[in-house]
Amino acid sequence: MSQKIINIANISQQGAAPALPPVLEEPSGSLLDMRSRPLQDLRISLTDRCNFRCVYCMPRSIFDKDHAFLPRASLLSFEEIIRITKIFVAHGVSKIRLTGGEPLLRKHIEKLIEQLAQLKTPDGRLLDLTLTTNGSLLGKKAQALKDAGLTRVTVSLDSLDDATFKRMNDADFPVSDVLEGLAVAHDVGLDSIKINMVVKNGLNDQEIVPMARYFKDSPFILRFIEYMDVGASNGWQMNEVIPSAEIVKRIAAEMPLEKVLAGNPSDTAERWRYLDGGGEIGLISSVTQAFCHSCVRARISTEGVLYTCLFASSGFDLRSLMRDGKSDLEISSALAHLWRARNDRYSELRSAQTDGLAPSSRKIEMSYIGG
Ligand code: GTP
Ligand code: 5AD
Ligand code: SF4
Ligand code: SF4
Repeated sequence: MSQKIINIANISQQGAAPALPPVLEEPSGSLLDMRSRPLQDLRISLTDRCNFRCVYCMPRSIFDKDHAFLPRASLLSFEEIIRITKIFVAHGVSKIRLTGGEPLLRKHIEKLIEQLAQLKTPDGRLLDLTLTTNGSLLGKKAQALKDAGLTRVTVSLDSLDDATFKRMNDADFPVSDVLEGLAVAHDVGLDSIKINMVVKNGLNDQEIVPMARYFKDSPFILRFIEYMDVGASNGWQMNEVIPSAEIVKRIAAEMPLEKVLAGNPSDTAERWRYLDGGGEIGLISSVTQAFCHSCVRARISTEGVLYTCLFASSGFDLRSLMRDGKSDLEISSALAHLWRARNDRYSELRSAQTDGLAPSSRKIEMSYIGG
């Protein structure tokens, strides 16, 4: 029997509008969830479309020409994004990451960035404003993004070998386009550029050491990501994950490394530095060393549904609150209520399962909610 995977048309708008709490409250600049985790990062998906079809994210067999992407009217407008972002910032968010799909496909993204770059935290600091891209359009757009006020960028790159890269992006994009995008991003002055490499056993694990070698002594920070069971379409299996410990072992055999102890407790990556001073790498180990205990991230889908976990199967429809004429104070109070009730820790629960199987199979797709 064919395993029909949930279509985006069905999973979109997964979430009712949150109820307004009986007592409204002004934001205080700090919100803690049930596990004492503050709300600090907001990741905003700008489109569910992508020009790649990475096998671990948007497999072509599912995201094909018949796939129903979100209609234009569903998307949060820039005005709505700014409005909701201000509400999050008033509650303590100081870091914004724009995601997708591929965020550079969103028309006039630089106009949105210009406005986001003006926002300040309650104590007057500018936001840490960044973006995750597949790099294919970065060469063309980096200057405009920088001029608009973007400070840094993260670029996904899974291989330096063209054949492997094309097998992974399944859209015939050459590595040279991404490397060119990286060079331009660096030249225009985008700061602390990170490279995200998802490692899938048997597909690109032979590229671990060449990637490390290539980005050592460069201005870019390479981060290895354990392949995750996010979404419901990539057919994830535990034996396709290469544990971060193994990745470190393979690299250190050629280029000795030591762990960097300093770091922000809410960082996703564990940092390792080359003993010869050649810079550092990051390891994102959501499968083998879950980091839910310090998870300060909220996500908003392209159509304005709030998810309090990357692995959630439903969210809260903030767009309908805005389109139904609710006030900022009402929306802000609803958000406070939701965050205080947050108890998510999917990755920790999955790690605790001895069979390695996912606790829930109806999870939202990464391309819909952003990475
Ligand atoms: P920096 O602030 O630049 O360090 O970025 P970041 O690590 O917060 O964000 P980035 O988008 O670069 O995250 C890298 C990858 O880590 C994502 O693509 C996901 O694969 C994974 N990741 C990020 N946040 C979470 C999370 O909350 N839970 C899990 N399980 N994985 C996450
Ligand atoms: N596991 C780990 N990382 C993933 N990403 C997408 N799907 C997965 C997955 N299944 C990452 C991409 C990109 C970001 C958007 O999310 O590599 O860096
Ligand atoms: Fe597109 Fe990024 Fe998903 Fe690849 S991982 S299909 S580039 S959204
Ligand atoms: Fe946060 Fe959910 Fe990821 Fe855990 S699994 S780190 S709670 S987003």
